[in-house]
Amino acid sequence: MRILLIGAGGREHCLAWKLQQSPLCSQLFIAPGNAGTALCGTNLGIAVSDFAKMEAACMEHTIDMIVVGPEEPLVKGIYDHFSGNPKTAHIHIIGPSAAAAQLEGSKAFAKAFMLRHGVPTAAYREFTAENFEEGLTYIKAHPLPIVLKADGLAAGKGVLICQTHIEATAEFELMIRRSKFGDAGNKVVVEAFLEGIEMSVFALTDGKEYVLLPEAKDYKRIGEGDTGLNTGGMGAVSPLPFFNDALKQKVIEKVVQPTIDGLHKENMKYTGFVFFGLMIKDDEPMVIEYNCRMGDPETEVVIPRLQNDLAALLLAAAENKLAEQEIITDSRTAVTIVAVSEGYPGDYEKGLQVRGLDTAADDETIVFHSGTIHSNDLILTNGGRVLAVTSFGNNIMAAGEASKNLLDEIYFDGIYYRRDIGYEFV
Ligand code: AMP
Ligand code: GLY
Repeated sequence: MRILLIGAGGREHCLAWKLQQSPLCSQLFIAPGNAGTALCGTNLGIAVSDFAKMEAACMEHTIDMIVVGPEEPLVKGIYDHFSGNPKTAHIHIIGPSAAAAQLEGSKAFAKAFMLRHGVPTAAYREFTAENFEEGLTYIKAHPLPIVLKADGLAAGKGVLICQTHIEATAEFELMIRRSKFGDAGNKVVVEAFLEGIEMSVFALTDGKEYVLLPEAKDYKRIGEGDTGLNTGGMGAVSPLPFFNDALKQKVIEKVVQPTIDGLHKENMKYTGFVFFGLMIKDDEPMVIEYNCRMGDPETEVVIPRLQNDLAALLLAAAENKLAEQEIITDSRTAVTIVAVSEGYPGDYEKGLQVRGLDTAADDETIVFHSGTIHSNDLILTNGGRVLAVTSFGNNIMAAGEASKNLLDEIYFDGIYYRRDIGYEFV
């Protein structure tokens, strides 16, 4: 099978690393990829939503399967583009249709879907310019804190947790009347704040059957102790000590099964990963969000713990044979720590040389590239998140130590990483 993987981050390096281990994968291409994915296959200089160039590349390289990493091409309709064209309809696409990708592409759509299918989630209302005044009244009477969500994709910045009514009404006005998040904020979901522990659960589905992958928790804040600005993710751990069989069963019954059944009942074409962002309180799960793809950096702990052949699993999903698959998981703990550029998540420099990568990696530790690029035999930084170093250990402490030891050997100007990933479990 000749596979084209779409994306350029640590998630994609990890997926590429896993796919190239499969005897089913005869050749792997990555578009556009990074310096890490180049170690696993052939990078193609094609942007993630340039469907025309992708189509040409599929013809040239006789691609059999496209695996979509990020949400943007999914929400823009990569599935529909390829499956609707007789020349490319034979290619398996791992990723949902545009209609189903609305689970991530529209927060209002996702909330309404959850209500229709009885999936537990925070109480909410949605507002636009039309019922703006009603929104103000709703917000003023809402208990604090108040969560405001821009409906559309807003590069992870569209969620605001407001501690006062003044802040909430001001932000609400900025979103709807002053396009703070562009068109993404034309519609705003106002929802109740949920307390508890956040975690992520992942399923691979064919739209009817599914398999559950290992769970994970990511650390979004830039600073140790979960302080400072939100980022794309500074690290992740898997498994989670509190995610016992009883809780897992509850998540399956109340969240995963009704979601997959809902997709099926509504005839939404969905072959791919479903990411359930959950809040757990008193052993009860509530859904904070759906994503229509794997998480980053969660992938960098979930996929290394997966002992199945990933290409075989994806093929089973594409051929509606997931019911025959059994997931086998490495019992060890995996921790990934993300090294970022100075200034991230604000402005940062690119093009700084990354040194020490050759000392890296053994059986217990893997270096995944996030934002890196090759230039004249050097590896340079090319993004805010630069590397994700994943280690195995018998517990979170041991795995985290191994990643930190390796990161201590790696250097680029202004390198920063959190030394406390998984802190609340050690
Ligand atoms: P999202 O962009 O949907 O991933 O949301 C970003 C983050 O905001 C989530 O990971 C949560 O930490 C937080 N969040 C979103 N909705 C809620 C909520 N209803 N209650 C508490 N925290 C929330
Ligand atoms: N780490 C969270 C995400 O991928 O959305």
